[in-house]
Amino acid sequence: MDQKENLPQFSVLPRHVGIIMDGNGRWAQKRGLPRYKGHIEGARTFRKIGEFAGNLGIECLTFYAFSTENWKRPPEEVAAIMDLFREYLRELDDRKAENEEKGIKVNFIGDRTGIPKDILRMMGYSERITRKKDHVILNIAINYGGRQEILHSVQTLAKQVEKGKLKAKDITEDMISENLYTGGLPDPDLIIRPSGEYRLSNFLLWQSAYSEFWYSDILWPDFTEADFVEALRDFERRNRRFGGV
Ligand code: IPE
Ligand code: IPE
Ligand code: MG
Repeated sequence: MDQKENLPQFSVLPRHVGIIMDGNGRWAQKRGLPRYKGHIEGARTFRKIGEFAGNLGIECLTFYAFSTENWKRPPEEVAAIMDLFREYLRELDDRKAENEEKGIKVNFIGDRTGIPKDILRMMGYSERITRKKDHVILNIAINYGGRQEILHSVQTLAKQVEKGKLKAKDITEDMISENLYTGGLPDPDLIIRPSGEYRLSNFLLWQSAYSEFWYSDILWPDFTEADFVEALRDFERRNRRFGGV
């Protein structure tokens, strides 16, 4: 039987969902395990929820995997997270055909400087081979910071001003949006943050102006499809006014 037949139906689905994958470390600590074990488990949850969300018909997903601030962590932990990226990128290559059939476009958002060269190469490769797809846009935020992203966009526009191609007074909000790493994508309708923290931690600052937020105490490795459905059910009931009546 087609697994899609049993999927829940929604009266309204967010076009773009952002997920702050938080709580891996605490998940491991609670079990007396080293923190990296939590990241391994969190990476499994990422695969599971990514696949489920794609099957539900969500067009665009952005997973926050590593922030510009996460370099402050102990080097062993950073190295373990980088190894998990490597593993995932190899898997993307192995599953090329399957992902192509599903129409998945992979996009990495964030500052590329500082990311190990071999990872950068694999990131570029995955983006190239999936660039023509558009059924599900899978953004993975690595070395991502909302402020850094806005700065990058503004610097891009400032270069055009320097060259005389643009006047400062002609810069529009749309131009700033277009020059973010998410340029061309809809703003996130829903942002999910598990782990009991009530903050954005520098995630999609510009794009989240009118996002709906869904928080939960569940630690990311424990997050299930049912939790995702609960967030979507909650979203269905939200009354979005965008400043109107
Ligand atoms: C999220 O889990 C993963 C990354 C930030 C890379 P954490 O590692 O932040 O988990 P906690 O918040 O310490 O539990
Ligand atoms: C946010 O989690 C970053 C990612 C999930 C990648 P953090 O654990 O880094 O956020 P803070 O430090 O609790 O704000
Ligand atoms: Mg955390």
